[in-house]
Amino acid sequence: MTDEIKTHRAIAIDGPAASGKSTIAKKLAQHLGLIMVNSGAMYRAVTHQILEEKIDPTNHPAVIQALTDMELVGGIDPETSTSTISINGQLLTHQLRTQQVNQHVSPVATIPEVRQCLVDMQRAYLQHHDLVMEGRDIGTVVFPETPYKIYINASEEIRAARRSKDGESDAVAKRDQQDSSRKSSPLKIADGATVIDSSNLTVEQTLEATLQALQQQGWESPPFSTESPISNLNS
Ligand code: CDP
Repeated sequence: MTDEIKTHRAIAIDGPAASGKSTIAKKLAQHLGLIMVNSGAMYRAVTHQILEEKIDPTNHPAVIQALTDMELVGGIDPETSTSTISINGQLLTHQLRTQQVNQHVSPVATIPEVRQCLVDMQRAYLQHHDLVMEGRDIGTVVFPETPYKIYINASEEIRAARRSKDGESDAVAKRDQQDSSRKSSPLKIADGATVIDSSNLTVEQTLEATLQALQQQGWESPPFSTESPISNLNS
């Protein structure tokens, strides 16, 4: 019997907080019929659990011990084809976007042991699926070999405005500063990534620019035909 080797493809979408990358990653995955994996949700889930357990996020040995003790499970919601995350049997959703989590997630994400554990989870998705994954280090660390890399940016003012429009209290500039300056897998533009500034673009325009960039990077799939439902984006 021969082993069947199947290679799946990853599209990496990176960028700073509230740059629009989650929205684009979701639309892109829907458009191309891929699953969408939100890596930030994993860092948020660990942070939520640490706070629940009243552990000081800056106490690295305690965070690492808690991570070892928690049962962290990544899945896929079959209805939406997007990633899910549960800890100790509890599916986490709205708990991931609280002000407390926003405030503490970046320090937790600086811990190399936390990153290694979550990067392993992120890579595991590719064993079974073609996917779009969004985060900070997807093109640089998680899937550096993928030719399909997009970096979505937007001005600081626009990003802060988008976040407050979503009703979230989130110091995006501070989080970006922490994410870009950390030693372990800092946020930066991956080699070969196409940078798209979404400051003055609509979601549709950003998606269109992303699709064009992917095509230039060699992505081939039927959605690039003229029949692609790009106009059907606001759902
Ligand atoms: O949605 P938003 O851009 O606000 O953030 P997110 O993608 O949910 O990520 C939350 C935090 O997790 C980031 O500020 C980073 O500190 C961390 N993160 C990371 O370090 N690496 C990733 N691949 C994804 C998120």
